[in-house]
Amino acid sequence: MATTIEAPRSAPVHRNRRFNIEKWGWIYMRASGVVLVVLIFGHLFINLVAGDGVRQIDFAFIAGKYATPFWQIWDALMLWLALIHGANGMRTITNDYVVSPLANRVVKYALVAATVVLIVLGTLVIFTFDPCPANGLAANLPDFCKAVK
Ligand code: HEM
Repeated sequence: MATTIEAPRSAPVHRNRRFNIEKWGWIYMRASGVVLVVLIFGHLFINLVAGDGVRQIDFAFIAGKYATPFWQIWDALMLWLALIHGANGMRTITNDYVVSPLANRVVKYALVAATVVLIVLGTLVIFTFDPCPANGLAANLPDFCKAVK
């Protein structure tokens, strides 16, 4: 007995539009995936394996990393690429499973909002983080700030 498989649900392909989000989304997932392998495993190695391993992670360790442009750019790239990758992946899953047009729209707007908020907050933290703020209460500051002041 022959079984007919229903055509899969898919977003309409806008062939006349110059920008095809499905095509560029597909390419972006692969390109960002390759770069993320390097960024994520490099991040895990430096934080958890090199030096004293996981025992070295504390406030001063992070403060030291964010005093270095190299790690600021590394972490910012990881943040941007992974968040956009994750959000685009969730967009695909939403199109696959959220059938109601209204719910589909709401979920995707929520995804964009969450992505933008996290990217803005994360980028601000990476580039403006100051472990020894000038107006900070001495009691709240880590010990190494005394050496700086
Ligand atoms: C080692 C780094 C990573 C690699 C190599 C990678 C690779 C990929 C690739 C190639 C796809 C497309 C799969 C397809 O079209 O069938 C994908 C999908 C996806 N990725 Fe990643 N990814 C990585 C990290 C991440 C991270 C950090 C997140 C979360 C922030 C994430 C979330 C997703 C999601 C939600 C999907 C969609 C899954 C689906 O369509 O069923 N990935 N990933």
